[in-house]
Amino acid sequence: MKTQVAIIGGGPSGLLLSQLLHTRGIQSIVLECKTKEYVLGRIRAGVLERGLVDLMSEAGVADRMKKEGYPHEGTLISYGDEEFRIDFAGHTGRSVMVYGQTEVTRDLYEAREQSGGIMEFNVDNVVIEGADTDTPQVTYEVGGETRRIACDFVAGCDGFHGVSRQTIPLDVRREYEKVYPFGWLGILSETPPLNHELIYANSGRGFALCSMRNENLSRYYIQCSLSDKPEDWTDAAFWEELKRRIPSKYAEKLVTGPSIEKSIAPLRSFVTEPMRWGRLFLCGDAAHIVPPTGAKGLNTAASDVHYLYNGLRDFYENNSTDGIDTYSTKALARVWKAERFSWWFSSLMHRYPDQSEFDLKMQIAELEFLRSNTAAQKAMAENYVGLPY
Ligand code: FAD
Ligand code: DHB
Repeated sequence: MKTQVAIIGGGPSGLLLSQLLHTRGIQSIVLECKTKEYVLGRIRAGVLERGLVDLMSEAGVADRMKKEGYPHEGTLISYGDEEFRIDFAGHTGRSVMVYGQTEVTRDLYEAREQSGGIMEFNVDNVVIEGADTDTPQVTYEVGGETRRIACDFVAGCDGFHGVSRQTIPLDVRREYEKVYPFGWLGILSETPPLNHELIYANSGRGFALCSMRNENLSRYYIQCSLSDKPEDWTDAAFWEELKRRIPSKYAEKLVTGPSIEKSIAPLRSFVTEPMRWGRLFLCGDAAHIVPPTGAKGLNTAASDVHYLYNGLRDFYENNSTDGIDTYSTKALARVWKAERFSWWFSSLMHRYPDQSEFDLKMQIAELEFLRSNTAAQKAMAENYVGLPY
């Protein structure tokens, strides 16, 4: 087979890139190692920045999001029984959209299917060859058969555990990592959200987040130990612990119910540099991971897609390599800012095992500074709604 861009990974990055390229008549093939149902079964991000919302519009897949998504103009932050609001709209004139990653992915699959996009599922043993030449190739196995794609470019959109990053030689690649000493236990429940805006809660017992998907679907997270397993937590134990971590006025009105999904995610900050090697470009989680505090993972994947899509357009439409030559530098400049914000917000909101009394006082002082200082609130709001592309 032959195509212009071989895309490894059928998660949000790979699908969005494929659909955007399609709008400009640039061909691609998406290779996904799981089934579509498996990808759609993963419950992940829930908050979209304006940049991603605009990319969805540009890709022609924004109709359902505009109907069913919820614009949020602010968020609440609590510590103990204290709370304050960060006014995104007031500080930045912008809002974010609450619309699940599952729905983004579903809309993209539908659009790719409707326009006859080639997607191969259940692929195995994907190997990228000749990425440092002008004629890269991707080989893979599917249904016991080996296939080969000759292409102009390879987009590595295959997440943190994919093959694309590993294809870049070790003497070219530099990795930066911080692993956090806790995880997030998340549940989805068919109950009304606790509040019309999200609540990020710092408490003596650890972090909690009250989020949502729609009027009758709520998403809650609590900081947990890395040794915990989802099955260690009954629904009743989860709700009890969540109530202890949020201000009492919210705990009293929390509507609980059976969980329909329960999972634990470890927290990690990770960046690989550069994000390009020859004709191979890394996008999204394949190149970087942020801790989820602040909802930057999916949104940073989207900004990579924006830079790569425009670089590839420049190549095919204007015969210029400027966009692809500056891809890594431009993407990384924004990635590091998202890394900083996610690291800062995580540090502000969690209990760390080695935290001293002094460290705890610093957290409270920082929260009180944020609560009372409009410049600090504006900085937080600008980062949360998303820095410009
Ligand atoms: P992925 O979504 O990981 O997609 C990569 C795809 O590539 C996958 O479908 C995978 O099956 C496929 N793949 C992997 N290897 C291969 C291979 N060798 N060949 C072919 N295909 C391959 N972000 C937030 O903002 N908020 C959250 O609450 C949040 N929660 C998260 C919870 C978890 C458990 C995880 C792992 C991430 C979470 N994130 C969250 C991050 C966010 O979901 C990711 O940033 C986002 O999914 C990145 O999209 P992606 O397409 O780059 O990678
Ligand atoms: C959600 C996840 C986040 O990490 C976050 O900061 C906000 C919302 C969510 O899944 O709804």
